Amino acid sequence: MRIVLLGPQGAGKGTQASRLAEKTGAEHVSTGDLVRAEIKQGTELGKKVQEYNDKGELVPDEIIVEMAKPHLKSGSWILDGFPRTEGQAKALDEALGDLSVGLDKVVALEAPDEDLVQRLSGRRQSEATGKIYHVEHDPPPEDLEEDPGPFVQRYDDTEQAIRRRLAVYHEQTEPLKDYYADQGLLATVDATRGIPEVTEEMLRAVGEAGGLPA
Ligand code: AP5
Repeated sequence: MRIVLLGPQGAGKGTQASRLAEKTGAEHVSTGDLVRAEIKQGTELGKKVQEYNDKGELVPDEIIVEMAKPHLKSGSWILDGFPRTEGQAKALDEALGDLSVGLDKVVALEAPDEDLVQRLSGRRQSEATGKIYHVEHDPPPEDLEEDPGPFVQRYDDTEQAIRRRLAVYHEQTEPLKDYYADQGLLATVDATRGIPEVTEEMLRAVGEAGGLPA
């Protein structure tokens, strides 16, 4: 199964990718998580990407493509947050061509900007498991064996960085919907509904495209 998830910040790409990965066994590849891991480890690459991340700007294509590429070889994956520009989409096409495989589906999650700012301000992420929660819609478990936490707010979830990220999304990433619609790969999903309903619709879209394991 080879799936790309498109959608603005807070639409639920990370939430849904992890649910789909659990249900299908595919690898959840989040370029945002890869970026944050480099920053946390204080690597040279981490220092380079931090300034973009903190401002809510996109990391340059050549850097992010090199970070994503090794994960494409696993054969079954859900890409969360990659590609985000036409340059990245073309680089992905090229990398898949080299591996002689194609995408099964591109799912675009859609929700209005006002809902997204509200959602992101309630987001919490587990430092232990990386799982994403929401203080109201999907609270962290009380049972610490299930997830020991701590459950922290992401440092780029400030209102200023969120608004910048949304503007960058509309300008640079949203046009990819046309790019993939032209290839007959796009399914759009209303992401304003509850988390399980959105997962069901995504599974339907991916299943109809023959992207689910038998
Ligand atoms: P990244 O980590 O990808 O952040 P993002 O794009 O800002 O997306 P988010 O993770 O904020 O949103 P999401 O859609 O995953 O929502 P979530 O599931 O968490 O990227 C961070 C940075 O890395 C970028 O700014 C950039 O600098 C760099 N980067 C990454 N990829 C790059 C690339 N390809 N090129 C260049 N630079 C790149 O959900 C949000 C909240 O809502 C959660 O609390 C969740 O519990 C809740 N929620 C989810 N669904 C629902 C629902 N249906 N109902 C109610 N609540 C819900």
